[in-house]
Amino acid sequence: MCGIIGYTGTENAVPIIVDGLKRLEYRGYDSAGVAVMNEDGFEVVKQKGCLSALEAMISIKPIAGFMGIGHTRWATHGEPSDVNSHPHLGSQNKIAVVHNGIIENYRQIKERLEQKGIRFVSQTDSEVIAQLAEYYHDGDIVDTMIRTANALEGSYALGIMCLDEPDKLVAIKKDNPLIVGVSEHGNFIASDVPAVLAHTNRVCYLNDREIAVLTKNSVEFFNMDGEPIYKEPETVTWSIDSAEKGGYEHFMLKEIMEQPRVLKETIQSVLGDGDNRRIIDSLDVSRFDRIVITACGSAYNAGMVAKYVFERLCRVTVEVELASEFRYKDPIVGQSTLVILVSQSGETADTIAAMREAKRKGAATVSVVNVIGSTIARETDYTLYTMAGPEIAVATTKAFSAQLVLLYLLAVSFAKKLGKISKETEDRLLSDIASLPGKAAGLLKRIDPVAKYAAGCVGCKSIFFIGRNIDYAIALEGSLKLKEISYIHSEAYAGGELKHGTISLIEDNTLVVAISCCERLYEKIYSNVEQVISRGARVLFIGNCIKAEPGEQLETIELPEINELFAPSLSVICLQLFSYYVAANKGLDIDKPRNLAKSVTVE
Ligand code: F6R
Repeated sequence: MCGIIGYTGTENAVPIIVDGLKRLEYRGYDSAGVAVMNEDGFEVVKQKGCLSALEAMISIKPIAGFMGIGHTRWATHGEPSDVNSHPHLGSQNKIAVVHNGIIENYRQIKERLEQKGIRFVSQTDSEVIAQLAEYYHDGDIVDTMIRTANALEGSYALGIMCLDEPDKLVAIKKDNPLIVGVSEHGNFIASDVPAVLAHTNRVCYLNDREIAVLTKNSVEFFNMDGEPIYKEPETVTWSIDSAEKGGYEHFMLKEIMEQPRVLKETIQSVLGDGDNRRIIDSLDVSRFDRIVITACGSAYNAGMVAKYVFERLCRVTVEVELASEFRYKDPIVGQSTLVILVSQSGETADTIAAMREAKRKGAATVSVVNVIGSTIARETDYTLYTMAGPEIAVATTKAFSAQLVLLYLLAVSFAKKLGKISKETEDRLLSDIASLPGKAAGLLKRIDPVAKYAAGCVGCKSIFFIGRNIDYAIALEGSLKLKEISYIHSEAYAGGELKHGTISLIEDNTLVVAISCCERLYEKIYSNVEQVISRGARVLFIGNCIKAEPGEQLETIELPEINELFAPSLSVICLQLFSYYVAANKGLDIDKPRNLAKSVTVE
C-alpha cells in the first residue's frame, strides 16, 4: 500500500517523480504529493485524489529541483486529505519524509514530542517520522536514520531529504519493499521496479534495516551500526513496454491478453533450463507428509485450484489456508510439512507473516512469487518465479495464470518423484500443460460472446458462481474478480452446496455463472443449472463438456478441450473477461478499483 519514489541527479526531479508515481499508483490512489529541495529549501505540492489532481496542481504551481521525493497514498491513519498526504515535513521544515507502512507506536512518539513543544499538523502516523528525525538530527543523517529507525515500531519504507545535508537522499526499510535504482543521470529509490524502469534496469534490493545514502553520482549502503555494506546492482529483465498500456484502454485488458505469452514463458522456465527447473529438481519431496498452501485473495484461489491437482496426482494431503488466519492459529506444521507461499508481489504482510511462522516451526518453505527480490522471494527456502512481468492493474490476471501453471508443474514433478505417476502419464500431463498457451490464445481471439453477454449484466445486483471440484475452485476466482472491479455482490458456491441454503437467494433473473470442465461431473453441475433455472435464474454456462442447448434462460460459452486438472487456466480467462466487460460497461475505473491497493503490505 502506498508507493514511494525519490530521485537525485542532473535532471529536474519533478517530471521523473510524477512519472514514477504513475507506475506506482496501483499501490494506492487516495492522494499524492511531491517535495523537491532547491536553493529556496523545500517546495511541496500535495493533493487529495488521484495523481491527475496532483498533476493539475503542479501545472498551476510549478516546482523544480534536482532532488525530490514523491508518494501515492492508500490511507491507513487519517482520512485522505491534503494535509494527511505525503511528503510530511518536520515543524522546522528541515526534514521531508515519504513513508509506506504503519508506525504502530506513533501515538507514544507523538505524545513525547508534543510534550517537548513540537506541533503536529496531520492525523497520520507518518508525520512522527519527520518530526522525530528532525528532533534527532545532529548533523549526520545516517546517525539520525539509525536513531529514528530504532525508535519506530511497525513497518516502513522511507525516503528522506534533509536541508542541512542537501546533497543526500536517504532511505531505509523494514517489512516494506524498497529498491535503489542506479542510472547515468542520477539515482533513485522506489517501492517497486516499474517506477524506475524508464531510466534504469540496474537495481539494488534493500534488506530490512539497511540504509541507502544516494547522491547524484554515488550510492552507499550502511547497516544499523553505521558500518558500510556493499551491494552490487542487479539487472532486471522487465522492459518498460510491459509497464505501459500498449494501446489498450486498461492495463487489466492488456494483461489478460498477455496471458498466452506469460503461460508460455512460465512453462518454459520449468521445462527448459532455468532456475525454476533447477530448484524444482533439487526438492526432496519424500520428506514431506503434508503440503500446506497459504496465500491471500487470488493467490489463495490459485492454491485452491492447486489443492485438487496435487491431491489427484500426488495422493498427498494438501491444506489451503488464508495467510491472515494461518499466522494466528498456531498452525500444526513441522519438519515434515512443505509450506507453499503464493504471492504476486512477494510483499503481502499476511503472507510474509505466515511464511515466518512456518519457518519458525521448522517447515520447509517454497514460494511462487512474481516480483524478483521481494521479501517472500528472499526469505523462503526455495523460490520459484512466475514469468508474468510487471502487473499493474490492481485485479490480478496474468500473475494468477502464471501461478496456476507453475503449481501444476510443481505437482507433476512431485507426483513423478513420489512414484505416483508413470513416465508416460508425466509426458501426457506435460504435453497438456504445454498446450495451454496455444489454447489460451485461441480463446482470446473469440472474446465477443463474453463481451456481449457481460454488457447485459451491468444491472445485476448479485451474481453467483458455481462449479464442482476444481471448477468450484476457479469459481472462487471468478467471483472475486467480479466483485473487485464491478462492485456487484457475488459469491461462489460448490454446486452441491446450493440446496443447503443458498438456493433461497435465487429468484427471477438472478444471474448464475456455472462452470463445467469436469466431464465426469457434468450431469451433477447440469442438475444444479436446471434447479436454478426452474427458480427463475439466468445461467451463463461456461465449459468444454456442455451438452445443453442455449435457451431463453441459458447462454453457453464453449472452451477448448483440456485435461480437467488444467482447465481452470482456460475457464479463468473467460471469467476475467466477463468481469472486465461488466465493469467496463459500468464505466468504472477498472485498473484502480475503489478502496483497494495492489500490494497489501499492512495487516
Ligand atoms: C485480486 C488480487 C488480490 C491479491 C492478494 C494477494 O485480484 O489481486 O486478491 O491476489 O492481495 O496479493 P499477492 O499475490 O501480491 O500476495
